[in-house]
Amino acid sequence: MAVPLITLNDGNRIPQLGFGVYQIKPRDTVEAVTAALKIGYRHIDTAEMYRNEREVGDAIADSGIDRGEVFITSKLSNAFHRPDDARKAFDETLSALGTEYVDLFLIHWPLPTQYDGDFVSTWNTMIEFARDGRARSVGVSNFQVPHLERLAAETDLVPAVNQIEVHPYITNETVRAYNAEHGIVTEAWSPIAQGEVLDDPVVTRIADRVGRTPAQVTLRWHIQRGDVIFPKSVNPARMKENFELFDFELTGEDLDAIAALDKGDEGRTGPHPDTFDRIPR
Ligand SMILES: NC(=O)c1ccc[n+]([C@@H]2O[C@H](COP(=O)([O-])OP(=O)(O)OC[C@H]3O[C@@H](n4cnc5c(N)ncnc54)[C@H](OP(=O)(O)O)[C@@H]3O)[C@@H](O)[C@H]2O)c1
Repeated sequence: MAVPLITLNDGNRIPQLGFGVYQIKPRDTVEAVTAALKIGYRHIDTAEMYRNEREVGDAIADSGIDRGEVFITSKLSNAFHRPDDARKAFDETLSALGTEYVDLFLIHWPLPTQYDGDFVSTWNTMIEFARDGRARSVGVSNFQVPHLERLAAETDLVPAVNQIEVHPYITNETVRAYNAEHGIVTEAWSPIAQGEVLDDPVVTRIADRVGRTPAQVTLRWHIQRGDVIFPKSVNPARMKENFELFDFELTGEDLDAIAALDKGDEGRTGPHPDTFDRIPR
Protein backbone atom coordinates (compact mmCIF):
# COMPACT_ATOMS: atom_id res chain seq x y z
CA MET A 1 0.00 0.00 0.00
CA ALA A 2 1.64 3.25 -1.13
CA VAL A 3 2.36 5.91 1.48
CA PRO A 4 1.18 9.34 0.25
CA LEU A 5 3.82 12.01 -0.38
CA ILE A 6 3.23 15.55 0.89
CA THR A 7 4.82 18.46 -0.97
CA LEU A 8 6.70 20.90 1.28
CA ASN A 9 6.89 24.67 0.69
CA ASP A 10 10.34 24.24 -0.93
CA GLY A 11 9.02 21.70 -3.47
CA ASN A 12 10.52 18.62 -1.79
CA ARG A 13 8.26 15.71 -0.96
CA ILE A 14 7.98 13.83 2.32
CA PRO A 15 6.31 10.44 2.94
CA GLN A 16 3.32 11.09 5.23
CA LEU A 17 4.12 7.99 7.29
CA GLY A 18 7.56 7.24 8.69
CA PHE A 19 9.29 5.46 11.56
CA GLY A 20 10.43 7.25 14.75
CA VAL A 21 13.44 6.08 16.75
CA TYR A 22 13.18 8.13 19.97
CA GLN A 23 14.00 5.94 23.00
CA ILE A 24 15.32 3.07 20.88
CA LYS A 25 18.64 2.16 22.45
CA PRO A 26 21.63 2.43 20.13
CA ARG A 27 22.23 -1.33 20.44
CA ASP A 28 18.64 -2.06 19.30
CA THR A 29 18.45 0.55 16.56
CA VAL A 30 20.01 -1.35 13.64
CA GLU A 31 17.60 -4.24 14.19
CA ALA A 32 14.56 -1.97 14.54
CA VAL A 33 15.32 0.20 11.49
CA THR A 34 16.18 -2.88 9.43
CA ALA A 35 12.80 -4.40 10.31
CA ALA A 36 11.01 -1.12 9.52
CA LEU A 37 12.68 -0.84 6.11
CA LYS A 38 11.71 -4.47 5.34
CA ILE A 39 8.08 -3.68 6.14
CA GLY A 40 8.23 -0.76 3.72
CA TYR A 41 8.94 2.37 5.78
CA ARG A 42 10.99 4.86 3.75
CA HIS A 43 11.12 7.76 6.19
CA ILE A 44 13.12 7.66 9.43
CA ASP A 45 12.91 10.35 12.13
CA THR A 46 15.97 10.58 14.39
CA ALA A 47 17.82 13.34 16.29
CA GLU A 48 21.26 14.05 17.68
CA MET A 49 19.76 13.85 21.17
CA TYR A 50 18.48 10.28 20.53
CA ARG A 51 22.11 9.14 20.25
CA ASN A 52 21.30 6.60 17.55
CA GLU A 53 22.05 8.46 14.29
CA ARG A 54 25.04 6.20 13.56
CA GLU A 55 22.92 3.06 13.90
CA VAL A 56 20.15 4.55 11.73
CA GLY A 57 22.76 5.26 9.04
CA ASP A 58 24.23 1.76 9.35
CA ALA A 59 20.82 0.11 8.96
CA ILE A 60 20.01 2.15 5.85
CA ALA A 61 23.43 1.47 4.31
CA ASP A 62 23.18 -2.27 5.07
CA SER A 63 19.66 -2.51 3.63
CA GLY A 64 20.88 -2.09 0.07
CA ILE A 65 18.07 0.42 -0.53
CA ASP A 66 19.22 3.47 -2.51
CA ARG A 67 19.92 6.48 -0.30
CA GLY A 68 17.55 8.48 -2.50
CA GLU A 69 14.66 6.17 -1.62
CA VAL A 70 14.80 6.90 2.12
CA PHE A 71 13.76 10.22 3.65
CA ILE A 72 15.99 10.94 6.66
CA THR A 73 15.23 13.59 9.29
CA SER A 74 17.54 14.59 12.11
CA LYS A 75 17.48 17.43 14.62
CA LEU A 76 19.93 19.88 16.16
CA SER A 77 20.72 19.14 19.80
CA ASN A 78 19.67 21.65 22.45
CA ALA A 79 23.37 21.91 23.32
CA PHE A 80 24.34 23.46 19.99
CA HIS A 81 22.15 26.48 19.22
CA ARG A 82 25.04 28.93 18.82
CA PRO A 83 25.90 29.22 15.10
CA ASP A 84 29.44 27.79 15.26
CA ASP A 85 28.30 24.93 17.46
CA ALA A 86 25.38 24.24 15.12
CA ARG A 87 27.70 24.09 12.10
CA LYS A 88 29.97 21.60 13.85
CA ALA A 89 27.03 19.56 15.12
CA PHE A 90 25.51 19.37 11.64
CA ASP A 91 28.83 18.09 10.21
CA GLU A 92 28.78 15.43 12.92
CA THR A 93 25.19 14.45 12.15
CA LEU A 94 26.05 13.88 8.48
CA SER A 95 29.13 11.92 9.44
CA ALA A 96 27.24 9.75 11.97
CA LEU A 97 24.48 9.05 9.46
CA GLY A 98 27.12 8.30 6.80
CA THR A 99 25.39 10.50 4.25
CA GLU A 100 26.20 13.67 2.32
CA TYR A 101 22.80 15.19 3.01
CA VAL A 102 19.75 14.83 5.19
CA ASP A 103 16.32 15.26 3.71
CA LEU A 104 15.20 17.36 6.64
CA PHE A 105 17.03 19.01 9.54
CA LEU A 106 15.12 20.59 12.43
CA ILE A 107 15.83 22.80 15.43
CA HIS A 108 14.70 20.29 18.06
CA TRP A 109 13.37 22.81 20.66
CA PRO A 110 13.09 26.61 20.61
CA LEU A 111 14.49 26.99 24.19
CA PRO A 112 13.08 30.50 24.59
CA THR A 113 14.58 30.78 28.09
CA GLN A 114 18.10 29.78 26.97
CA TYR A 115 20.71 31.44 24.74
CA ASP A 116 19.27 34.87 25.66
CA GLY A 117 16.07 33.84 23.91
CA ASP A 118 17.87 33.82 20.56
CA PHE A 119 16.66 31.03 18.30
CA VAL A 120 16.75 33.42 15.32
CA SER A 121 20.50 33.16 14.71
CA THR A 122 20.11 29.38 15.07
CA TRP A 123 17.47 29.45 12.35
CA ASN A 124 19.69 31.60 10.11
CA THR A 125 22.38 28.93 10.51
CA MET A 126 19.89 26.24 9.49
CA ILE A 127 19.19 28.32 6.37
CA GLU A 128 22.91 28.04 5.48
CA PHE A 129 22.54 24.22 5.53
CA ALA A 130 19.58 24.47 3.17
CA ARG A 131 21.40 26.86 0.83
CA ASP A 132 24.51 24.65 0.62
CA GLY A 133 22.27 21.66 -0.17
CA ARG A 134 23.37 19.46 2.73
CA ALA A 135 19.88 19.75 4.22
CA ARG A 136 17.35 19.35 1.42
CA SER A 137 14.74 20.94 3.67
CA VAL A 138 14.95 22.69 7.03
CA GLY A 139 12.34 23.17 9.70
CA VAL A 140 11.65 23.48 13.38
CA SER A 141 10.19 21.39 16.17
CA ASN A 142 8.16 22.40 19.21
CA PHE A 143 7.81 26.00 17.97
CA GLN A 144 4.80 27.88 19.35
CA VAL A 145 3.01 30.59 17.38
CA PRO A 146 5.05 33.51 18.83
CA HIS A 147 8.27 31.67 17.96
CA LEU A 148 7.10 31.17 14.38
CA GLU A 149 6.01 34.81 14.17
CA ARG A 150 9.50 35.88 15.15
CA LEU A 151 11.08 33.78 12.42
CA ALA A 152 8.63 35.28 9.92
CA ALA A 153 9.46 38.83 11.01
CA GLU A 154 13.23 38.48 11.32
CA THR A 155 14.37 35.93 8.71
CA ASP A 156 13.66 35.23 5.06
CA LEU A 157 12.82 31.52 5.09
CA VAL A 158 9.61 29.93 6.32
CA PRO A 159 10.26 26.52 7.94
CA ALA A 160 9.18 23.58 5.77
CA VAL A 161 7.76 21.73 8.78
CA ASN A 162 6.99 22.23 12.45
CA GLN A 163 7.17 18.96 14.40
CA ILE A 164 4.95 19.28 17.49
CA GLU A 165 3.18 17.05 20.00
CA VAL A 166 -0.22 16.11 18.52
CA HIS A 167 -2.51 13.21 19.44
CA PRO A 168 -6.09 12.84 20.61
CA TYR A 169 -5.25 14.18 24.10
CA ILE A 170 -3.51 17.32 22.75
CA THR A 171 -4.79 18.24 19.33
CA ASN A 172 -2.70 21.44 19.32
CA GLU A 173 -5.12 23.23 16.96
CA THR A 174 -3.73 26.74 17.39
CA VAL A 175 -0.23 25.80 16.25
CA ARG A 176 -1.62 23.49 13.52
CA ALA A 177 -3.76 26.35 12.20
CA TYR A 178 -0.80 28.76 12.10
CA ASN A 179 1.27 26.10 10.31
CA ALA A 180 -1.47 25.49 7.74
CA GLU A 181 -1.99 29.20 7.07
CA HIS A 182 1.71 29.75 6.46
CA GLY A 183 2.50 26.72 4.31
CA ILE A 184 4.27 24.84 7.11
CA VAL A 185 3.56 21.10 7.24
CA THR A 186 2.65 19.80 10.70
CA GLU A 187 4.46 16.70 11.89
CA ALA A 188 2.67 15.08 14.84
CA TRP A 189 5.03 13.58 17.40
CA SER A 190 3.98 10.86 19.87
CA PRO A 191 1.01 10.18 17.56
CA ILE A 192 -0.46 7.53 19.88
CA ALA A 193 0.63 9.45 23.02
CA GLN A 194 3.19 6.72 23.70
CA GLY A 195 0.31 4.26 23.99
CA GLU A 196 -1.84 6.30 26.40
CA VAL A 197 -4.78 6.75 24.02
CA LEU A 198 -5.09 3.08 23.08
CA ASP A 199 -7.49 2.18 25.91
CA ASP A 200 -9.72 5.21 25.44
CA PRO A 201 -13.33 3.99 25.03
CA VAL A 202 -13.96 6.41 22.14
CA VAL A 203 -10.99 4.98 20.25
CA THR A 204 -11.72 1.33 21.12
CA ARG A 205 -15.39 1.71 20.11
CA ILE A 206 -14.41 3.01 16.65
CA ALA A 207 -11.72 0.33 16.38
CA ASP A 208 -14.29 -2.41 17.10
CA ARG A 209 -16.67 -0.98 14.50
CA VAL A 210 -14.12 -0.71 11.68
CA GLY A 211 -12.33 -3.95 12.59
CA ARG A 212 -8.95 -2.28 13.18
CA THR A 213 -6.72 -1.82 16.23
CA PRO A 214 -6.86 1.31 18.42
CA ALA A 215 -3.36 2.25 17.19
CA GLN A 216 -4.46 1.99 13.55
CA VAL A 217 -7.55 4.10 14.20
CA THR A 218 -5.53 6.80 15.96
CA LEU A 219 -2.83 6.86 13.27
CA ARG A 220 -5.47 6.93 10.52
CA TRP A 221 -7.07 9.93 12.28
CA HIS A 222 -3.76 11.81 11.89
CA ILE A 223 -3.44 10.77 8.24
CA GLN A 224 -6.95 12.03 7.39
CA ARG A 225 -6.14 15.34 9.17
CA GLY A 226 -3.16 15.69 6.82
CA ASP A 227 -0.33 15.57 9.35
CA VAL A 228 2.92 13.64 8.92
CA ILE A 229 3.48 10.88 11.51
CA PHE A 230 6.25 8.45 12.48
CA PRO A 231 5.12 6.07 15.23
CA LYS A 232 7.89 4.28 17.13
CA SER A 233 7.98 0.59 17.94
CA VAL A 234 10.68 -2.01 18.55
CA ASN A 235 8.18 -4.77 17.83
CA PRO A 236 7.99 -5.81 14.13
CA ALA A 237 4.34 -6.95 14.44
CA ARG A 238 3.40 -3.48 15.72
CA MET A 239 5.56 -1.79 13.06
CA LYS A 240 3.53 -3.70 10.45
CA GLU A 241 0.25 -2.85 12.16
CA ASN A 242 1.21 0.84 12.21
CA PHE A 243 2.07 0.72 8.49
CA GLU A 244 -1.33 -0.68 7.42
CA LEU A 245 -3.32 2.54 7.35
CA PHE A 246 -4.28 3.03 3.73
CA ASP A 247 -7.03 0.51 3.10
CA PHE A 248 -9.72 1.86 5.40
CA GLU A 249 -11.29 5.19 6.20
CA LEU A 250 -12.82 6.93 9.21
CA THR A 251 -16.02 8.96 8.92
CA GLY A 252 -16.19 12.67 9.64
CA GLU A 253 -18.04 11.76 12.83
CA ASP A 254 -15.18 9.48 13.91
CA LEU A 255 -12.65 12.24 13.28
CA ASP A 256 -14.68 14.70 15.37
CA ALA A 257 -15.23 12.22 18.21
CA ILE A 258 -11.49 11.58 18.48
CA ALA A 259 -10.65 15.30 18.27
CA ALA A 260 -13.13 15.93 21.11
CA LEU A 261 -10.82 13.97 23.45
CA ASP A 262 -8.48 16.99 23.47
CA LYS A 263 -7.38 18.04 26.98
CA GLY A 264 -5.16 20.92 25.86
CA ASP A 265 -1.88 21.32 27.75
CA GLU A 266 -3.11 18.77 30.34
CA GLY A 267 -2.91 16.12 27.64
CA ARG A 268 0.79 16.56 26.93
CA THR A 269 3.06 13.54 27.42
CA GLY A 270 6.15 15.71 26.92
CA PRO A 271 7.36 19.07 28.24
CA HIS A 272 5.84 22.45 27.38
CA PRO A 273 7.84 24.23 24.65
CA ASP A 274 7.53 27.62 26.40
CA THR A 275 9.39 26.42 29.47
CA PHE A 276 11.44 23.42 28.38
CA ASP A 277 15.09 24.35 28.86
CA ARG A 278 17.11 21.13 29.15
CA ILE A 279 20.57 21.25 27.66
CA PRO A 280 22.36 17.88 27.58
CA ARG A 281 25.93 17.94 28.93
N1 LIG B 1 10.47 16.59 18.25
C1 LIG B 1 10.27 16.12 19.46
O1 LIG B 1 10.49 16.82 20.46
C2 LIG B 1 9.79 14.71 19.64
C3 LIG B 1 9.37 14.25 20.89
C4 LIG B 1 8.91 12.94 21.02
C5 LIG B 1 8.88 12.12 19.89
N2 LIG B 1 9.32 12.59 18.67
C6 LIG B 1 9.33 11.72 17.47
O2 LIG B 1 8.06 11.09 17.33
C7 LIG B 1 8.25 9.67 17.29
C8 LIG B 1 7.05 8.95 17.86
O3 LIG B 1 6.77 9.38 19.18
P1 LIG B 1 7.04 8.49 20.48
O4 LIG B 1 8.09 7.49 20.20
O5 LIG B 1 7.28 9.44 21.60
O6 LIG B 1 5.64 7.81 20.80
P2 LIG B 1 4.53 7.01 19.97
O7 LIG B 1 4.99 6.66 18.61
O8 LIG B 1 3.24 7.78 20.15
O9 LIG B 1 4.38 5.69 20.87
C9 LIG B 1 5.43 4.78 21.02
C10 LIG B 1 5.05 3.80 22.15
O10 LIG B 1 3.86 3.08 21.81
C11 LIG B 1 4.13 1.67 21.72
N3 LIG B 1 3.47 1.20 20.48
C12 LIG B 1 3.82 1.49 19.20
N4 LIG B 1 2.96 0.95 18.33
C13 LIG B 1 2.03 0.30 19.07
C14 LIG B 1 0.89 -0.47 18.72
N5 LIG B 1 0.54 -0.66 17.47
N6 LIG B 1 0.15 -0.98 19.76
C15 LIG B 1 0.50 -0.80 21.04
N7 LIG B 1 1.57 -0.06 21.42
C16 LIG B 1 2.34 0.47 20.44
C17 LIG B 1 5.64 1.53 21.66
O11 LIG B 1 6.06 0.36 22.33
P3 LIG B 1 7.00 -0.76 21.61
O12 LIG B 1 8.22 -0.05 21.07
O13 LIG B 1 7.29 -1.69 22.72
O14 LIG B 1 6.14 -1.35 20.52
C18 LIG B 1 6.10 2.77 22.42
O15 LIG B 1 6.08 2.51 23.81
C19 LIG B 1 9.55 9.47 18.09
O16 LIG B 1 10.13 8.20 17.90
C20 LIG B 1 10.37 10.61 17.55
O17 LIG B 1 10.87 10.28 16.27
C21 LIG B 1 9.76 13.87 18.54
